[in-house]
Amino acid sequence: MTVESGVLAPDAVRRMFDRIAPVYDVMNRVMTAGLDLRWRRIAAEAVVRPGDRVLDACCGTGDLAVACARRGGVVTGLDFSPAMLERARRKLPSATWIEGDLLALPFEAGSFEATTVGFGVRNVADLDLGLAELRRVLVPGGRVAVLEITQPRGVLAPFYRLWFDRIVPLLGKVLKGGEAYSYLPASVRRFPDKEALAGLLRTAGFDGVEYRTFAGGIVALHTGTKR
Ligand SMILES: C[S@@+](CC[C@H](N)C(=O)[O-])C[C@H]1O[C@@H](n2cnc3c(N)ncnc32)[C@H](O)[C@@H]1O
Repeated sequence: MTVESGVLAPDAVRRMFDRIAPVYDVMNRVMTAGLDLRWRRIAAEAVVRPGDRVLDACCGTGDLAVACARRGGVVTGLDFSPAMLERARRKLPSATWIEGDLLALPFEAGSFEATTVGFGVRNVADLDLGLAELRRVLVPGGRVAVLEITQPRGVLAPFYRLWFDRIVPLLGKVLKGGEAYSYLPASVRRFPDKEALAGLLRTAGFDGVEYRTFAGGIVALHTGTKR
């Protein structure tokens, strides 16, 4: 399990996010030219209805949870990195913030009308279990949104590789927690592509699975409904 392979033990992932928490939001804005906030808003709009109980798992510094709250959701954010969670708590004190593991969610079955994950499932040690947990805590008919970096095909692919494989790790080196940004491209490479992730969601027990892409196919939003 190494940074270069894109596979890290859960404890190493948690420590890595604890280290990069201070620069995480800045890196997101720089890496995406600020578009990441728009993608999170669209993800929230896709699955959250006013009054819904929403779980934002792997909530990090809370930007997707904030988007869900703006949509009228009653939001619980969960993450296993205390440093990321602390920043989320400061952003939205009115939400419920829980230190916990996506792979063993501390909620009863059927606790939420919507579950969301932004740029989180790529990091978990057992993706199938993570998707099963997101489904378990939903009410029947509840909705899931998974926003994740993906590998574009076609003309943009070389630009993507230049950006993520060379420039982003370089940017990371000048900021605290640089190792995390070497891990990022490798973790994207080993992650299932859009079609494969849609298949995994269906196998996990979601119906109506659809995806759309942003930024020329670099980011994908998958949605589905608990069967
Ligand atoms: C790339 S950040 C994404 C943060 C946020 N969702 C966003 O949209 O920016 C990934 C987050 O997932 C968390 N994470 C990774 N694996 C986890 C797990 N098994 N359980 C809970 N949190 C996890 C990390 O601590 C980190 O805060």
